[in-house]
Amino acid sequence: MSMTTVGVLRETAGRERRVALTPDGVARLRRTGFRVLVETGAGRSAWFDDDAYAEAGADAGSRQQVYDESDVLLVVRPPEDVAALAAGRVLVGLLDPLGDPALAGRLAAQGVTAISLDLLPRTLSRAQPMDALTSQANVAGYKAALLAAEAYGGFFPMLVTAAGTSRPAQVLVLGAGVAGLQALATARRLGALVTGYDVREAARADIASTGAAVLQLDAETQGSADGYARRLTDEAAAAQLTALTRAVPRFDVVITTAKVPGGRSPLLVPAEALAAMRPGSVVIDLGGNVAGAVADTRTVTDHGVTVIGAPNLASTVPVAASTAYARNVVALVSSLLPEGRLPAGRADEVLDAVLVTHGGDVVHPRLRDHQETR
Ligand code: NAI
Repeated sequence: MSMTTVGVLRETAGRERRVALTPDGVARLRRTGFRVLVETGAGRSAWFDDDAYAEAGADAGSRQQVYDESDVLLVVRPPEDVAALAAGRVLVGLLDPLGDPALAGRLAAQGVTAISLDLLPRTLSRAQPMDALTSQANVAGYKAALLAAEAYGGFFPMLVTAAGTSRPAQVLVLGAGVAGLQALATARRLGALVTGYDVREAARADIASTGAAVLQLDAETQGSADGYARRLTDEAAAAQLTALTRAVPRFDVVITTAKVPGGRSPLLVPAEALAAMRPGSVVIDLGGNVAGAVADTRTVTDHGVTVIGAPNLASTVPVAASTAYARNVVALVSSLLPEGRLPAGRADEVLDAVLVTHGGDVVHPRLRDHQETR
């Protein structure tokens, strides 16, 4: 029997600097009996060169070879030429099938078995080593605080110097999931005075554990059985927006990270709030929560508020992000695809949750619903 091949492609999405597998990940997969085939230059933008992959035991190949020979293809984001992947092969990545359900339809028609890490049931302890949303959000939250500090015209810490004492920056983080908590912790390490807010009741203790203050609004909060936020009712969202519009202008820096899994991101910083902020204030939008923010773009409002649309920050810290992501996919392959394909007679709640397409069909229940309601 020939050895199962795990392939790694160079990412094709614009500005994407991550790679799905690092040399360390290659070595781990080799130890569990896989052959690993890496497209030449796949890790270059994350500073992992071809020699390092070769030393770790990978074969190098052209893009076409990787497509032709891989039983399992590892990516961070869906490759633009994914049509080249033959029927029966397995694609593993952050495929965002809820955001782009058409892709699932195409992969099903192609006969590809698609596994998307964004669908992982994250609270299951067995799934945690595979949790790429968490690993990447952690990197993004860290970078958000650095980006804010760089864009802000003052110091983050209180500095006592011969020239006098500087006032510490007041930083507000909206949405205290993985990214928000890391942004709070990082801004605090830089010396800012930090405050966090989340719609989930349970997030308050998490915010406090970073040493941040908790912003209390008169708006509705929620507890939820599965730990995930739901979309607020229209009335609750309106009340939240009014309360946030009052609170936001008190801060020098606002970092927003609020998302609702599988749904549209809530607006938390409307134009009115931006207009009320002091000149020189900075808003970093990771979650898609800020009026007028443009992805990967820095804009300055008429009265001097810098707004940075930052939905792809993990990609800008490519070494840390790729290292963590590689560990997640190695854990997934080892646990769910030990032979490089779906185990026969599978009954596995993690696999069922992440499996998007198989045997020519879109098999994920939430996506089947999606396709019917479109
Ligand atoms: P996310 O990226 O989906 O959303 C970020 C945050 O935005 C969440 O905390 C959410 O409550 C908040 N949010 C949503 N709507 C909001 C609104 N209108 N106003 C203010 N905040 C709003 O969340 P993430 O970071 O992916 O984590 C989601 C949850 O899953 C968290 O509770 C996290 O702790 C939990 N989790 C648990 C894990 C585990 O048990 N091992 C692993 C990873 C996450």
